[in-house]
Amino acid sequence: MNKTVLITGGAGFIGSNLALRLIEKGYQVTVLDNLSPQIHGDNGENSVLYRAICDKVRFIKGSVLNYDDWKSALEGTHIVVHLAAETGTGQSMYEIEKYTDVNIKGTSIFLDILANETHTIEKMIVASSRAIYGEGKHRCDDHGIVYPTERLDCDMKSGDFNVKCPLCAKNTELMSTDEESKIHPTSIYGITKQVQEQMFMVMGKSLGIPAVAFRYQNVYGAGQSLSNPYTGILSIFSTRIKNGNDITIFEDGEESRDFVYIDDVVEATILGIEKEEANFQVFNVGAGVATDVLTVARTLKNAYKSDSNITVSGNYRLGDIRHNYADLSHIRNTLGFSPAVSFEEGIRRFTQWVEKQEVVEDKYQKSIDEMRAKGLYK
Ligand SMILES: NC(=O)c1ccc[n+]([C@@H]2O[C@H](COP(=O)([O-])OP(=O)(O)OC[C@H]3O[C@@H](n4cnc5c(N)ncnc54)[C@H](O)[C@@H]3O)[C@@H](O)[C@H]2O)c1
Repeated sequence: MNKTVLITGGAGFIGSNLALRLIEKGYQVTVLDNLSPQIHGDNGENSVLYRAICDKVRFIKGSVLNYDDWKSALEGTHIVVHLAAETGTGQSMYEIEKYTDVNIKGTSIFLDILANETHTIEKMIVASSRAIYGEGKHRCDDHGIVYPTERLDCDMKSGDFNVKCPLCAKNTELMSTDEESKIHPTSIYGITKQVQEQMFMVMGKSLGIPAVAFRYQNVYGAGQSLSNPYTGILSIFSTRIKNGNDITIFEDGEESRDFVYIDDVVEATILGIEKEEANFQVFNVGAGVATDVLTVARTLKNAYKSDSNITVSGNYRLGDIRHNYADLSHIRNTLGFSPAVSFEEGIRRFTQWVEKQEVVEDKYQKSIDEMRAKGLYK
């Protein structure tokens, strides 16, 4: 019998790509998704992602905050991949109740059902995030390995965006972050991801259901919402460019992230579903390479042959990290995963997909205005 996988948030970016790949591999897929307007626009049933999956999966339009929606989604399910979440790091700093509700309470309803009712779940996978590491792992010349806390407003105000040693305040050197690194998120979003991951691990062990957590880095690629101004910088920059708007980059443009292509994330997640070695483990998923944001903007501008100006503003958002990139040793050694799509190839595939999409309204300035009004954008 083919296994049935429930993907919560399965109409979203990662979920829809995962659903299509699982169907190709012969799985039955159920999706529980509320077609959130922030991701899918006001008419979710018309969204590109929903339409890509709606005929191929058992689709339940519902919320992870609703007990009955979980109950019907779990009927006949063997494996749960829990992706549904609020995902904007900056937005989480002023919509705290919404973020903790959807991400933590939504998870608790699922775990309550597992703990208290009969079910058929054999494995459960949760999407965690690199956001749980905060600034990640660094090296100080005097103090060795350190885990810096969030950067100070007074440093950034004077144009110093470097990460400092928490013991001597000297600039540190960035290192790749492994799974043993200290967990200390600098955003409410990161806190919710940490809690979700820990809830899965603790309850998985308690109930004897193998649990797996994937700490995804910055995922990009075909299917990422082009209308959500709160997360996904490649999509945000693309929508700015396609509207003929300029791109303004925070800080000094040298801040960096580990950009991992969606197909690699899907493959890693499937290894988690299929390999017993994944059970009760947490894994980084990334490209293992840091790319600075200015390079991302310039690469997109060239790919779209755009005239948009790119400026580096020196502005910054409280709660943002400076850099982070993944140490992939654990997932490589345990699951045999290594990313297959280079940044150049990923950008080629992503921009080709964007060119085929309708240009959507650019709501980015609205998101910045919201942060400024809350005192989080300086
Ligand atoms: N994309 C990334 O770079 C990235 C990085 C790290 C972690 N993650 C995590 O991976 C998961 C998937 O991310 P994504 O990029 O596909 O996000 P996405 O926003 O594209 O998809 C999330 C989906 O969840 C749905 N959803 C939101 N609230 C819901 C609710 N209350 N009930 C049911 N469905 C709801 C949305 O409609 C959407 O379809 C999230 O948990 C996110 O935190 C993503």
